[in-house]
Amino acid sequence: MKNTDPKQRILVALDKPTLPEALALVRELRDHVGGFKVGLELCTSVGTPAVVEAIAAAGGSVFLDLKFKDIPNTVAGAVRAIVTNFGDQVRMLTLHCDGGSAMLRAAVEAARAASATPPLLLGVTVMTSIDTATLNTELGVHEPLETHVARLARLAQAADLDGVVVSPHEVTTIKQSCGPNFLTVTPGVRPAWTNTGDQRRVLTPAEAIRTGADYLVIGRPITAAPAESGGSVAAVTRIKAELGVG
Ligand code: C5P
Repeated sequence: MKNTDPKQRILVALDKPTLPEALALVRELRDHVGGFKVGLELCTSVGTPAVVEAIAAAGGSVFLDLKFKDIPNTVAGAVRAIVTNFGDQVRMLTLHCDGGSAMLRAAVEAARAASATPPLLLGVTVMTSIDTATLNTELGVHEPLETHVARLARLAQAADLDGVVVSPHEVTTIKQSCGPNFLTVTPGVRPAWTNTGDQRRVLTPAEAIRTGADYLVIGRPITAAPAESGGSVAAVTRIKAELGVG
C-alpha cells in the first residue's frame, strides 16, 4: 500500500509519559498530520489497549512502535492479539528484523489470519543508536552498517513485511535494493529551524521526502515547539509548507 496523500506522510512521535499529555497533542494535531507514533514508554506506563483506544477515540491514527522480537510463536501471539483486539485502530506495527525470517513470517501470517486488512508491518533494521564500531565489535557483525541495513530490509521484504524503519540516509539504498513500493519510514528528521537534539544523522523533511521516504516520524520539533512561535500546529504548518503540501 503506497502512501499517496502528502499530509498522511507526517507521523508525530508522542514521546510523553502520561496519556493526558499525549491526548492533548492528538486533539491539537489530528487534523494536520497522518498519525501518531506511540511506543514502549507510554504503552508500558498506561497499557497498550488503553493507549490505542484513547488515541483512536480522540480521532488519531495509531503507529504502534512496540518493536517486537521474540521466538516466532510468541511474536505471532502478540501480533494476533493486537490485530484481533484493535486491528482497525492500529495502522502500523513494528518488529525487529533481526528476529529472523521465521519470526517475521510468523508475524505476517498471524496478522493476515486475524484480519483481511491488517496494519502495515514494518521491520526495524539497525537502531540509529548503533554505529559501525558497535555493530562490528559488540555484535560481531562484520560488514558495513549500510550493507547490514540493506540485508535486513531484504529479509523483511522476503518475509512479506510492508516496509522498514530506517535513517533518512539509508532510504536510497533501501529503495535500490528492495524497489520503490517497499515502504520506508524515517525518524531522524529535523527542519533546518530546529535543534537536532540527540539525533545525529538528520535530514530536513523536504530532503527526506526527496530521498524517497514514504513517511516521516517527527517528534520534538513538533511536540516541543515553543508557544511563542505558535506551538505544535504552527510547526506542522511550517513543515507542510516546506513539503509543498500547504
Ligand atoms: O523527537 P524526535 O523527532 O527525535 O523523535 C523521533 C522518534 O523516532 C522517537 O520516538 C524515537 O524513539 C524514534 N526513533 C528514532 N530512531 C530510530 C527509531 C525510532 O529516533 N532508529
